[in-house]
Amino acid sequence: MVIIVMKGKILTLLKENQSFLSGQQLCEQLGVSRTAVWKVMKQLKDEGYEITSIPNKGYCLKSVPNILSKNEIKSQLNTTWLGQNCIYYEEIDSTNLQGKIEAEKGATHGTLLVADSQTKGRGRKGRVWESPPGGNLYFSLILRPQFEVEKASMLTILMAIAVSRGIKFIGGNNVLIKWPNDLVIKEKKVAGILTEMSAEMGAIHYVVVGAGINVGAREYSIETNKYSTCLEEEVEGSLLRANLLGAILEQFELLYEQFCIVKDLSFIKEEYEECLVNKGKEVIVLDAKGEYEAIAQGISDLGELVVIDKEKNIHLVYAGEVSVRGIYGYV
Ligand code: BTN
Repeated sequence: MVIIVMKGKILTLLKENQSFLSGQQLCEQLGVSRTAVWKVMKQLKDEGYEITSIPNKGYCLKSVPNILSKNEIKSQLNTTWLGQNCIYYEEIDSTNLQGKIEAEKGATHGTLLVADSQTKGRGRKGRVWESPPGGNLYFSLILRPQFEVEKASMLTILMAIAVSRGIKFIGGNNVLIKWPNDLVIKEKKVAGILTEMSAEMGAIHYVVVGAGINVGAREYSIETNKYSTCLEEEVEGSLLRANLLGAILEQFELLYEQFCIVKDLSFIKEEYEECLVNKGKEVIVLDAKGEYEAIAQGISDLGELVVIDKEKNIHLVYAGEVSVRGIYGYV
């Protein structure tokens, strides 16, 4: 067995087992030699895993380092198809850009691209997504949906829900969503989503859904710092990136499958609106005809923001056409 595959399997077994796993047990289960197991244990310890080994008792995993490696990611995956094909980069220009390149080369539906840092991280509307190494999450998914082109933008909303569930799972109960796809804690941005698509004649070739989450690394420009925060500052407890990623992907797979059956967002509308930071608040809608003030009510089954203007007219605001700013500050 190739060492990298064996490493992933041993890591999963150690994590599943709270007490000691004997060397003999590992050798039998994996069909490998004792020397091979010993080599893997040494490598894992060198990578920062705290593993106690006691003669005649075996190995026990005491703690996991906050690293992002293919193995660490794989050992946290609890999905059927999403992320099973995983590409990991220490540094890359942008996981969304690479996602498009891999998709053009034929990468399978559900391919996951993760990077420890990005040199050309991209945000919405051509903005830069600052992506320093060592503590944040930057990932993209390649999807090949069978549904209509018009529905692709709803994947952004699904990802926003998946990220908010993931953050809640690790203890960030106060995370909210600023429509359509910013994750916010205490009125500051903690994560963003960028969805890009290749389509032709009404059919989707592929969609790349990318998410950037500020977990810990805080070397941002003054401008970014003003409106953003990170999970380390807002959430107590252990913030292992691979753990968070695993939780998000599990939720996204679930949501995606439900969406393919229901074909709109009615099944998560209530949950989304509960997290919607704009709900009941004044917003300025900027559209092609100019800007107007309105009160955000919630979202439609298609993911548009429902707003009511001063003359009590209801408008459906489409994410691609307008930008919604809060009147007071960022939110
Ligand atoms: C935004 O809020 O403007 C969207 C930010 C999206 C950032 C992520 S990080 C991973 C993926 N790769 C990119 O270049 N962008 C997205």
